[in-house]
Parts: sequence; structure tokens; C-alpha cells
Amino acid sequence: MCGIFGTTLHKGKAAPVIHQALERLEYRGYDSVGLATIHDNKLSIKKDQGSIKDVDSKLNFDELCGKIGVGHTRWATHGIPSFENAHPHMDCKKNVAIVHNGIIGNFIELKSELERKGHIFNSRTDTEVIPHLIEENMMDEDFIEAVRLAARKLEGSYSLAAISTHSPELLICVKKESPLVIGIGKNANFCASDVSAFLPLTKKALFLDEDELAVVKSDKIEVMNFRTGQDIQHDISEITWSTEDASKSGYKHFMIKEIHEQPLAISNALRIQNIYYDLIASKMHKAEQVYVIGCGTSYHACLAASYLFSKLAMLQAKPIVSSEFIEQYGHAINKKSVVLAVSQSGETADTLDALRFAKKMGASIFGITNVMGSSITRLSEVYIGQNSGPEIGVAATKTFTAQLSVLTMLAVILAEKKGSISNNELEIMKKMLLDVPKVMKKTLSTEVKIKKLVKRYKDKSSFCFLGRGINVTTALEARLKLLELSYIPSLAYPAGESKHGFIAVVEEGYPIIFIAPKDGTYDKILGNIMEMKARKASTIGIIQAGDEKLKQLLDDYIEIKDGSMNFLSPLIYIVPLQLFAYWMAVERKCDPDKPRNLAKSVTVE
Ligand code: AGP
Ligand code: GLU
Repeated sequence: MCGIFGTTLHKGKAAPVIHQALERLEYRGYDSVGLATIHDNKLSIKKDQGSIKDVDSKLNFDELCGKIGVGHTRWATHGIPSFENAHPHMDCKKNVAIVHNGIIGNFIELKSELERKGHIFNSRTDTEVIPHLIEENMMDEDFIEAVRLAARKLEGSYSLAAISTHSPELLICVKKESPLVIGIGKNANFCASDVSAFLPLTKKALFLDEDELAVVKSDKIEVMNFRTGQDIQHDISEITWSTEDASKSGYKHFMIKEIHEQPLAISNALRIQNIYYDLIASKMHKAEQVYVIGCGTSYHACLAASYLFSKLAMLQAKPIVSSEFIEQYGHAINKKSVVLAVSQSGETADTLDALRFAKKMGASIFGITNVMGSSITRLSEVYIGQNSGPEIGVAATKTFTAQLSVLTMLAVILAEKKGSISNNELEIMKKMLLDVPKVMKKTLSTEVKIKKLVKRYKDKSSFCFLGRGINVTTALEARLKLLELSYIPSLAYPAGESKHGFIAVVEEGYPIIFIAPKDGTYDKILGNIMEMKARKASTIGIIQAGDEKLKQLLDDYIEIKDGSMNFLSPLIYIVPLQLFAYWMAVERKCDPDKPRNLAKSVTVE
């Protein structure tokens, strides 16, 4: 997600302070940048698409005058990276400027309401509803109350910083779900997405809680709950992190930070408007053949999707790695084909190549990606932005579970369209999906046990992961994570296939990790565990909490609380295995953020 920063100084120029802080936040987003300050009761803005360095060399941010201002470095979720969509955004009269991190879930409704009242919009972002909403409220209220009323009307995730010519000494900050922290300086105060932005300026921080609004002056900070209006007193924390630690929120690596960000990333992925799902589902419903294509982790999401489409919507979709698509199915593609491509970066050459080919053959092209404005968004008829924010670790973690969440929602909507499941079942499924972030939070607490497991198995020279049904995907993805981070040659199989070859390598102490929720595949995987135990393998299971039978049988196990997730199990069961791969890399002194020979975006075929 993007980075926001605001400051109000007793004296001096805010722009250079904001500019430098944005550089420290650039890892959070880098497709566009912008600054706004107030001077002589006038708002001035400089913004554009591009990196901070490029835009600054064109516009010279530090030229802006004024003691108060806000800044933003963007990772687009709504609207491509462009001048119009870059933050800060303003109201019609150009009296209010705001920067935002998050997603406004009800922006379509709010935008039409505001347009009916005569507001003119200049961007395609969800964010722009906020300054117009504040403007509307300011007809009857002061700036603080106008922001507060606006915050109460918004749905979704939003941290904001707002300034207005009506109260040029006030920086107003709002926090809901997205991060926001206040920095307390001498004769100056700040707000930022994380403390790394203001660490060189102050070590004193005030962490806002959910639903809070802070009124920040250069010498005073007041906090209230924006729903109840109640005043809140917060303790001030002394930050001991280095600037680098702070950009990782105190975690040692980006990868582990991103693993822990998954509950929020999934909530954001599930905020996508139904209209996009509907458009894709309608075409898939009518297609003669459906292909789901991707590479690496994204391919694993495609594989899971093929189970979901079949199980929930009774639709056959062929999952295939992009680099094999043309060879394997090229001759079968025609106008009645649908190709759904999944790519975090939206720039993977093998995937783009397959898409261009399919397009030439007349197929309908759809995409799921994390990067707005990427090549996939331009090639696709309709695309879904998964809203995960930048992923800095080369290994995909939060973007994988976000892709899975989007694909699950697509399967549910497809099922609705096809009438393949009852309304009651549909409601239950949607609810279960929306509950995933909660279950995932609990699952992250398996980390303590995972660390112990890593210590025990750290010297093994190979692992095998076995799963059945949709958790074949989990096995493959767990193997990829371990392989790419720790360089341990490892295997993964559909558990049923293990006896058709793999079993030959099993000997005493060979570690086999079973993904074994209590679903329809349970009895069979139990049989596979027995087969491997008979060959004296070390058996480790990711199991449902309270599964006494498996607890007795296995050498080691990780229990998943609320683990009866059925079709959602890959989303949850992959989490301890991501943690396993991360801690194994740390234990074996490999850099988990930058595995050797790999790139975040593979733009060669
Ligand atoms: C995953 O951890 C990888 N590093 C890699 O397999 C990745 O998923 C693959 O290169 C696909 O990238 P994309 O999603 O950007 O297309
Ligand atoms: N939704 C906003 C936009 O697209 C903010 C993006 C973000 O937080 O990453 O501009």
C-alpha cells in the first residue's frame, strides 16, 4: 500500500521535510508521487506519475512554500498511475487537500451521490470522494467536524491526512485499518504510514488505534474516536528501531512482514466491486473452454482455482503454466475460449506471450494482477486488481493468498450465476470467505511452534510435501517457498501419486510434510501417512486442531484452529508452511528477501 506523510511546523518550510520523508516511504509505493502545502491561505500542489526522483527533477517539490503540508507515494488500486490519479486530491473549490492509503469500499455510491449534488471529479480514484465529502460537510461545519463526518460515511480501509485553507494550522489524520502513526517533534509534529518516515526527525511516536482521528497542530495533538466523538489519551512511545527496521515495522525481513500482513491483504482483496467479477464470470459461463494461466506461485493459484471452479460452479477450467500454454493448447484456442491470466507483477514475459497469442486467436482475455497499469491490465478485456500493495520480498506470500481470495470469490460468483449452489450455501460461503482474515490471524500464532520445528529439521537435505484435492496446491506452493528460499531440493506430489515412484526414495528419517485437514480427502491421506510411516519416514502434519488421531500418528504436527475451512483450506494451511520456509532460510543463513538467481518480475521468456 502507498505511503502517506503530513507535517505542521512552527516555522520553516514543510515541503523539503515531506519530500525527504516520502523518500523513506518509497518502498510502500512508487508509481506516482505528490505534495500539497498551504501558504498565504492558498493550496499549492505538485504531483505526477513516476518515481519521486523523476517527478522531483521535473517539478522541484522543495520550491513549495508553507509550514504545513501532506505528501503521498502511490501504489494504485483504483485508476491507473497517471497525473490525474496521483494524490493529493482536492475538492471543487481547491480548499482541501488529502492523501489516502487504503480502499474506499463504498466510493461508487458516494461518488454518484456527490455528482448529483454538483461535485466535479477529476480522477478515477476511490480517494477523490473524500475531499468532496469534506467540502460538502464544510457548508455547515468546521474543518474538524467536516472530516469527522466524512470519516464516518466511508467504508473500507483508510488512513488519511487532510489540510484545508479554512484552518491552515491544522493537520487532520484519520485511521481505519490502514496504518498511521503520529510523530511528536520539537515545534513540529508529523503523521506517517510508518515511523521510518519521521525517525530522523523524532523518536517519539503516538500510535493511533482503529477509528481514531487526530487533530495535529505544530505544538499540540488531540485524539478522538471519530464515531463516538469521545476524547482519547494515548501514551507516547519512544522508538528504538533504526530507520531500516522501521520500514519493516520492526521485522527482520520484508518477507516475514508480508506474511504477517496477510489478514489485511485479504480484507483488501475482498473489497473489489462485484461488477468486475460479474463481467468475467458471465464470459466464463458462456465459454467453450476456459484456461487459467500463470507462472510459479501464480500458477499455483490457477491450479487451486481449477478445483474451485469445478467444485463450486461445476465449470471445467484448465490450469496451465504460461510457458507451456501455446505448445499444449495453442491449436485449440478460438473465439469461444476464455483465458484468465494470474500475475502479481502483470509483466511476466511467459504469461504476456501466452496472452498475446490467445488474443490473436480471438479468445477473450481476463487478468488478475497486483500492479495497476501493468501490461496485463492493458491486454485484458477486464481485470481485477488484487490490492495487496507492493510486495518487496521476492517470494510471493501475501500476493498468493490475495490471488486465492479473489479466485475463490470469482468461483462463488460463477456458482451464483450458474445456479450450481443454493442461495443459503452461497451466503455461508461468502461469510466463510470474509472470515478468513480472522482465522489467518490465529494461524499466524503457529510461528512459535514452526521455529522449533525448523530447529529440529534444519539439517535435512530434502523434504517432500504431500496433499490431496485442492491441497495439492498447498503442497506445491510450500515446496516452491522452501526451495527458492533455502535452496533445499524438495519434492511435492498429490499424495495419491506418491506411491507411483516417489516412495522409492523414502528411507528412515526422510521428512514428509502432509497437509491434512479433515475434509473429504482425510481418510485417504491417513492411508498415505501410514504408508510412509511403514517406511520409517519422519512424518509432519499440518492438521485441524483437536485431530487426536493424527496427533498420535505423526512425529510432529502444527494444529490449525478453526481449521475446518474446506474449499478455503489452502488459504489458511499455506501460512505455517510460508513461515517454515522463511525460518528455514534464516536458520540456514540464506537471505529470504533476495533469493539467489531470482527476480521479482521475470520479463524474459
Ligand atoms: C514466487 O515466490 C516466485 N518468486 C515466482 O515463482 C513468481 O510467482 C513467478 O515468477 C510469477 O510472477 P508473477 O506473479 O509476477 O507473474
Ligand atoms: N485507493 C487509493 C488509490 O488508488 C490509495 C491506494 C493505496 O493505498 O495504495 O489511489
